[in-house]
Amino acid sequence: MSASIIDGKAIAARIHAELRQRSASFFQAHGRSPGLAVVLVGDDPASTVYVKKKRDACAAVGIRSFSTSLPATCPPQELLEQIARLNEDNAVDGILIQLPLPPQFDTEQIIEAISVTKDVDGFHPYNIGRLALRAPLLRSCTPAGIMTLLAETGISPKGMEAVIVGASNIVGRPMALELLLAGATVTVCHRFTQDLEAHVRRAQLLVAAVGKPGLIRGEWIRPGAVVIDVGINRLPDGRLSGDVDFAGASARAAWITPVPGGVGPLTVATLLSNTLDAAERRVG
Ligand code: GUN
Repeated sequence: MSASIIDGKAIAARIHAELRQRSASFFQAHGRSPGLAVVLVGDDPASTVYVKKKRDACAAVGIRSFSTSLPATCPPQELLEQIARLNEDNAVDGILIQLPLPPQFDTEQIIEAISVTKDVDGFHPYNIGRLALRAPLLRSCTPAGIMTLLAETGISPKGMEAVIVGASNIVGRPMALELLLAGATVTVCHRFTQDLEAHVRRAQLLVAAVGKPGLIRGEWIRPGAVVIDVGINRLPDGRLSGDVDFAGASARAAWITPVPGGVGPLTVATLLSNTLDAAERRVG
């Protein structure tokens, strides 16, 4: 078997076209563009690239982006004050604090300072709690983007044996909630999981979100599985690689996401869509 590729770039491009229209209608109705504030603390190279991608994507769909760069040595109080200003700013509908933050920050304290109605990353405990209770206000971007990828590919997780590798607050945990809501039987593997291979071998739907290139070996993949690779790892030779051995997994899976061009574009598209949802809710 040779897996079909889930083309995240093409699916995101279709979503961007819809978002351009929604932004234009919003502008006509309210005399301003929807606004997203993007805050970068420090100069981590990967974060700098991601923030630029998000700002470029805003420009492409007619969302105004407001960007703040703070030095890596910034005292936490300064970031909290900036968040308070953005919470009050009527031109700002969404606030994104790029993670990870430098070590002097308490990430949870920072996330909790963001107004829940502007939490377009969907990381605030209120929004995660709403997701757990089946009524999300704003959903975490990568897990929600993966649900869109599955829906657009005609894959329903209902009744599937789903295995998530990685239990981060950004991907693994909210992904488990999304798949549970969608009717999958969900297993979450993490650093203390004893026999990762045995869990992966059972997976009809596998989501790998760890950040270790090649952690998931091709021969572990259940024949006919759907493989979603969230890892973006820079190899010593400069190439990007996911967490899954792509060539080996492609020989067994039915569907697989490439890296790059799989999940990443959907994370950005969901961020933009969340910003429009937040903007429409604020004025509505
Ligand atoms: N760092 C890695 N992924 C993300 C994300 O989706 N949002 C933010 N804010 N930071 C991240």
